[in-house]
Amino acid sequence: MITQKHILEVKNIKKHFQVGRPSIFGQDARRVHAVDGVNFHMYRGDVLALVGESGCGKTTLSMLLMGLEESTDGQIFFEGNDITRATRAERKRLSQRIQMVFQDPYESLNPTQSIEEIVSEPLVIHKLAKDPIERRLRVVNALEDSGLKPAADYLKRYPHELSGGQRQRVVIASALVLEPVLLVADEPVSMLDVSIRAEIINLLADLRRKRELTVIFITHDLGTVGYFADRVAVMYLGRIVEIGNTLDVLKNPKHPYTKALLSVIPVPNPRLRKKREILQGETPNPINIPTGCRFHPRCPVAIEACKISDPAFIEVERAHDAACLLLVK
Ligand SMILES: Nc1ncnc2c1ncn2[C@@H]1O[C@H](COP(=O)(O)OP(=O)(O)O)[C@@H](O)[C@H]1O
Ligand SMILES: [Mg+2]
Repeated sequence: MITQKHILEVKNIKKHFQVGRPSIFGQDARRVHAVDGVNFHMYRGDVLALVGESGCGKTTLSMLLMGLEESTDGQIFFEGNDITRATRAERKRLSQRIQMVFQDPYESLNPTQSIEEIVSEPLVIHKLAKDPIERRLRVVNALEDSGLKPAADYLKRYPHELSGGQRQRVVIASALVLEPVLLVADEPVSMLDVSIRAEIINLLADLRRKRELTVIFITHDLGTVGYFADRVAVMYLGRIVEIGNTLDVLKNPKHPYTKALLSVIPVPNPRLRKKREILQGETPNPINIPTGCRFHPRCPVAIEACKISDPAFIEVERAHDAACLLLVK
């Protein structure tokens, strides 16, 4: 089960995109600070939910973990090695150990391939099955573990013959077939019908137990994390602003941004409803990061000092940290 050794350690990772060209008057080209100093670690078997509004850098962070984007700064240690410096050969080996489930099950499946071809392809690329029989066994196993049972009913079918939920199960099967240790699921249910979201999240929860997977579950909806995340990290404008055990963060949020996100989750019982804290303004532009605390222009409780000081993380309770000046005693 869970060992106390970090499987993943992310240290001050940054990804800045250059947009436009430097001007001849010596001005810098504009930089999008998509990921701007993210730190966290994970133990084997952990599920971490990464939550934040659209544009806060969640997908860019997963691309960095997958080696699909090159970092601007910082390090990512996976099983003890800094993967931001991986060679091509190491990268290929890593792409078997770390797999990703993308948001859109309609775009991530090749419509001209049968389900068997789709789920076999990673095995062929990584030369992981010694013969067609072994390959088929692994494909059947991955499909059935993903809830497509009996697999024989699906092998010869094509993506357009399946529902959105079934397609996302095929996407999950083609990640699982490589037997990864880390699964990065980038908004895996946001394109699906509300009625089947819980099914897919339950499937991920089952797989995590059955295959001892470590999972990064990315979502813009704090309402879905309670299902299976052990810990939650809340991201704002390229940084994590609060991280802790799921129950602690949901019951006892400390950062004003987390509080605002929680106050807009619909609660069926009106007596439990909290006062809605509507966030002021739009998500700011990651080209011009506000001074001091990057949340201050939208923060309902900001004080003068928040315009100047960039707050450090403070441990508010065991394993629960938040970056807000107002928490400094
Ligand atoms: N290739 C790119 N070039 C320039 N800007 C990008 C690129 N990819 C993402 N961005 C910008 O980086 C920010 C973070 O994007 P993204 O990681 O997709 O956020 P999220 O997944 O949280 O919605 C956004 O402002 C987005 O426009
Ligand atoms: Mg995204």
